[in-house]
Amino acid sequence: MNLNYEQLVERINLWNHAYYVLDNPLVSDAEYDHAFRALLALEAEHPELVSPESPSQRVGATPIAEFKKVEHGVKMLSLANAFSLQETYDFFDKAAKELNISPASLPIFSEPKLDGLAITIHYHHGLFSYAATRGDGQVGEDVTHNIKTIKSVPLKLDTNALPEKLEVRGEVFMPKAAFEKLNRLAQQQNGKVFVNPRNAAAGTVRQMNPKIAASRDLQFIPYSVGEYQGEREFTRHSEMIDYLISLGFRRNPHCYGFLGSFEAFTENYQRMEQLRDTLPMEIDGIVYKIDDLATQTALGFISRCPKWAVARKFPAQQATTQLLAVDFQVGRTGVLTPVARLEPVFVAGVTVSNATLHNMDEISRLGLCIGDSIEIQRAGDVIPKVAKVIEQGEDRQPIIMPERCPVCDSPITRIEGQAAFRCTGGLICAAQSAERIEHYASRKCMNITNLGTKLIELLYSKGIIKTIADIYKIKLDDIATLEGQGEKSAQNVLDSIEASKATKLSTFLAALGIPEVGEGGSKNVAKYFKSLPAIQAASFEDLLQVPDVGPVTAKSIVDFFQDANNQAIVADIINAGVVWTDEQGEPVQAQPLAGQTWVLTGTMVMPRHEAKALLESLGAKVAGSVSKKTDCVVAGLEAGSKLTKAQELGVRVMNEAEFLAEFNA
Ligand code: IVH
Repeated sequence: MNLNYEQLVERINLWNHAYYVLDNPLVSDAEYDHAFRALLALEAEHPELVSPESPSQRVGATPIAEFKKVEHGVKMLSLANAFSLQETYDFFDKAAKELNISPASLPIFSEPKLDGLAITIHYHHGLFSYAATRGDGQVGEDVTHNIKTIKSVPLKLDTNALPEKLEVRGEVFMPKAAFEKLNRLAQQQNGKVFVNPRNAAAGTVRQMNPKIAASRDLQFIPYSVGEYQGEREFTRHSEMIDYLISLGFRRNPHCYGFLGSFEAFTENYQRMEQLRDTLPMEIDGIVYKIDDLATQTALGFISRCPKWAVARKFPAQQATTQLLAVDFQVGRTGVLTPVARLEPVFVAGVTVSNATLHNMDEISRLGLCIGDSIEIQRAGDVIPKVAKVIEQGEDRQPIIMPERCPVCDSPITRIEGQAAFRCTGGLICAAQSAERIEHYASRKCMNITNLGTKLIELLYSKGIIKTIADIYKIKLDDIATLEGQGEKSAQNVLDSIEASKATKLSTFLAALGIPEVGEGGSKNVAKYFKSLPAIQAASFEDLLQVPDVGPVTAKSIVDFFQDANNQAIVADIINAGVVWTDEQGEPVQAQPLAGQTWVLTGTMVMPRHEAKALLESLGAKVAGSVSKKTDCVVAGLEAGSKLTKAQELGVRVMNEAEFLAEFNA
C-alpha cells in the first residue's frame, strides 16, 4: 500500500486519536513505528511538504528562551467551592431564587473535577495555534511548546466545517499510573520526586524544553469554550462538550445530567465518591454546572467565579500528625523501603497510621527525624506520603538505615548509582520469597484471582509454598483445612490457578520478578526473542540489542537465568502446564471465573449488558436470582431484595467500584 504524504499524516493522526483519545489502539506498535519512520523519511527528503498537522511537529527541536505573556480575550474564571451537600444545594437554590424558579427544575450537568492545571488552547481555521496557562485569569503564559506534545490534543480539528476561531479550555493532568512511573524513575536516578500528580503536571508544563513534556504522559480534557467564531449554535453546555469530543478531544469520564433536587445531588455525590479510586486520574471533587447556556448568561458571575457553577470538593487530603518510628520493609527484589509509623490520624475518610517515605534521599530532602510533627497527604488510592515537616520534635532522633536485613539478618548494601539499599539475602530472605509469590500471582502478572496476599502469606508461613513453582503443587486439603477456608473456596483457588496457566510470554517474564525487568521491559524482551529458550540462552550482548534494554537490565536477566535455583523453578512451572501463544498472536483468553454464578442488581454506571458480557468473557454464568449457589452479587445503587437475600445467605457482595477495580474495567 503506497500512501502519499497527506494520506500518511491523516492515517497516523487517526491511529493517534484511537490510541490516545479513545484508548482503543488500531494497530501494533511495529506497524505504527514503521509508518512514523516512513513519514520522517519523506519529510527529510521533501522538507517543503511538512504540514503543521503532521505528528512530527509535536515536539520542537529547541527549548524556548522565556515564557511569553498571553492576554486572554475572554477572562479565565475560577470556581466557588462547596464543602458539603447543603452548601452545594444552597448554591443552586440561590441561583434558582434569582431566576424565580424551583431548583428542582434546573438542568444540572456534573463533571469530575480533574486535579491538574487549567490550560486554554486556540485553534485558527481548525489548526492548533497556541496554548496558555490561566495565570491571574487575565494574562497567562504561553506554553504552546509543551501543550503541543500532548497526544490527546488534536493538531487539527476533525471537521469539514472548520470554525474560524475556537478556544478550547480544559485541564492538563498526569494520570496516576504515569505519575507513579515518573517518580519511580526519578527515585532510581536521584531525580526530582513530585509530591502529587498535580505538581508533576504543573512542573512539566513549566519546562522550557519540550522534549521533557514529550517524554511524560500528560493528558488534556476539555471543559469549556472561550472565544468562538463558527457556524454552530449551542443551547446547552453538554452539547458544546459533545461538539468538542466530535472534533477529536478526550471525554471526561462519568459526566451526568440531572435536575437539581437535593436527592439527585446526594445520589450523584455518592456515586462519584464510590468511583473516585477506580479512575485512572486524580479528581479532587465534582463540578456542577447549570447546563442551559441562556441561564448561565442570565446569571453571569461575581468576583471571578460564575454564579452558575460550583466545585463540590472532596474532604481534605492533608493532615498533621507525629512521626513515631520508621521501619524498613524488604520488597520483592530486596530493596528496603522506609515506612513511617504515625500517630493515627483521620484523612479523607480513612484512619492512616503508616506512610511511605520512598528512600533515604527523600528522608534527607524532607529533613525528617523521629518525633517531628509532619504533614501527610493522601491522594485517592495512592499510599499516603509524608509531605513536609511542620515542627521539629524536642527529642528528635535521626533515621538510620540498618546494617543488616530486619527479616533475614543478611548484610545490606547500597545499590550502585541509586538511592536504594538492598538486602543481599536473595531467596533465603523470607520477605523476598513471599513478596515474589504475591507479585507472580497478582492481577497484572499471572492473575491468579483467588490467590490473594493473605492466603499466600498463610501458605508461605505454613511452608506449603516456598517458591512460585510450589503454587502448582497446592492440593485441595492444603487450603480447605486452613482456618476460615472451606472446600468450595479451596476449589475456587485451584480453578483460578488452572485458568491462569494460559498466559503470554511477556506476562510470564514480568511475573518472574527479575530485578529491573518490569512490564515494559518484559514486552520488549519477549517481542524480540519470541521464545523462552531464546531468552534463557541470550548473552549480555544479545540482550543489549533489545530496544530500551541497557547494561543493568541485561546483566540482571543473564544473572537470573544462570542461577541453578531459578532454572529449576522455571522448568517446574513449564512442566506444570503454563503455556503461552506467540507474542504476536492473540492471547488465549483466561477464564478465571469458570464455573461461577454471578448476579447483577441495582443501578450501575456501567451498562448492564456490558457488565454481563465482561463476566461471561471471564467464564462466569450471569443469573437473574440469588441462591446458595451464587458466588458473588454485584450491587449497584439502590439494590433491593437480591442484595438482602445475598446478605442473608452469606454470599459475597461487592459494589460497582470494587467490581470495576477487580476486573480492571
Ligand atoms: S469549569 C468557568 N470544569 O478547577 C468555569 N473546571 O477550581 C471554569 N477544573 O480553574 C472551570 N475540572 O482548572 C471546570 N470539569 C471541570 C474541571 C475544572 C477541573 C479546574 C479548572 C478550574 C479549577 C477551579
